Amino acid sequence: MKKLWGGRFTKSAEEWVDEFGASIEFDQELVNEDLEGSIAHVTMLSANGIISEEDAEKIKDGLMQLQEKAAKDELSYSVKLEDIHLNLESALTDIVGPVGGKLHTARSRNDQVATDMHLYLKKQVAVIAQLIKEMQEALVEQAEANVETVMPGYTHLQRAQPISFAHHLMAYFWMLERDKERFEESMKRINLSPLGAGALAGTTFPIDRYQTAGFLGFDGIYENSLDAVSDRDFILEFLSSSSILMMHLSRLSEEFILWSSQEFQFIELDDSFATGSSIMPQKKNPDMAELIRGKTGRVYGNLMGLLTVLKGLPLAYNKDMQEDKEGMFDTVKTVIGSLKIFAGMIKSMKVKKQQMEKATKNDFSNATELADYLSGKGVPFREAHEIVGKLVLTCVQKGCFLGDLPLEEYKDVNPLFEDDIYTVLDPYTAVERRNSAGGTGFAQVKLAIEKAKTLLKEE
Ligand code: ARG
Repeated sequence: MKKLWGGRFTKSAEEWVDEFGASIEFDQELVNEDLEGSIAHVTMLSANGIISEEDAEKIKDGLMQLQEKAAKDELSYSVKLEDIHLNLESALTDIVGPVGGKLHTARSRNDQVATDMHLYLKKQVAVIAQLIKEMQEALVEQAEANVETVMPGYTHLQRAQPISFAHHLMAYFWMLERDKERFEESMKRINLSPLGAGALAGTTFPIDRYQTAGFLGFDGIYENSLDAVSDRDFILEFLSSSSILMMHLSRLSEEFILWSSQEFQFIELDDSFATGSSIMPQKKNPDMAELIRGKTGRVYGNLMGLLTVLKGLPLAYNKDMQEDKEGMFDTVKTVIGSLKIFAGMIKSMKVKKQQMEKATKNDFSNATELADYLSGKGVPFREAHEIVGKLVLTCVQKGCFLGDLPLEEYKDVNPLFEDDIYTVLDPYTAVERRNSAGGTGFAQVKLAIEKAKTLLKEE
């Protein structure tokens, strides 16, 4: 097969060399964006008198036929034609004849591929933002059902203070809110058109870059042609927003895995998101949560991979940059899959309220309440801390908990203790009373849920 750029060559590469250099295996993912970009380009060419209207119509008609074929999955690609751009140009010429060769006037694959990827990410980022929102809705739904579900809150994975389970879930709501913001803000930089930058230096033809940008729904154009074809920071930004999002999902995965263990038994994941063991009949494994935790690694890897590819590249385009695509596609697929799984897992999981509550009873996570109690009565907090610390030690030595000590024993230590300490020690009361802004008090949690719902509605 003759190369579309074959004029200058006297001999062709061996097949395996061609295969090594080709990107069609993965960049066929950009078929729709490439055709969309070509239609905008050819429309602009004729609108500005660069090619005749008649030729433009023929080309456009051919491109639209290719769009139909793509929709029906009827296009076939050849590795000999290297990439999606040359495959489509060749398919176009097969349909419309030599006039198809006019499509590439005033254009290079360098601005073409950059345009394709901007169009692609624009669509995918919108999908991802919507899926983040759906996961947030699932969190809010579970939170609403669990405002007064009391569980141990942890620091250092040691029981620290009792909290509302809804408060814990809502923590992730706000992380996701920032994640969504990051993606949406990056849209400002994705939504710029590189088209018309040519290979690197612009073109001698009287093109109108603003026109193609408008046709393609871009907000503006890259100001510098070299920058337009060699910049991939919009992909890096996408990969880093994705890495941060996946880090959040990975932390929630870890919590789901812990919570569904026999040791915690705080939740039970629905059968549809768990798997069994081929040998141990009793097993129900939180595979999906584990997999998302694991897939976080590949997204970080994709970010590091592209940063490394780009490091030290001189301007403008270099073939190294063909390596920008697989990590981007892989990340899109991973992020979309993970968000969908999570929304389903959250909605369908069973919350074991009694287990959670039980866990707050037989421990010392109410010790702060007692220290606050004393300091509320004028004892300096440091002193109160020391007193309660001693009481905890007494309990540990006796093998009991703070609520089990008789009032006399409290009074011996400090006469300020009254019998209302037993209410204060109750985990439910402990949560209820943490009514500072953003705290776990039920009233605060309800407020936060309302705020969250308003936010989701406004979007
Ligand atoms: N397949 C190439 C890529 O993805 C398209 C751009 C090729 N440009 C070039 N001058 N070889 O980077």
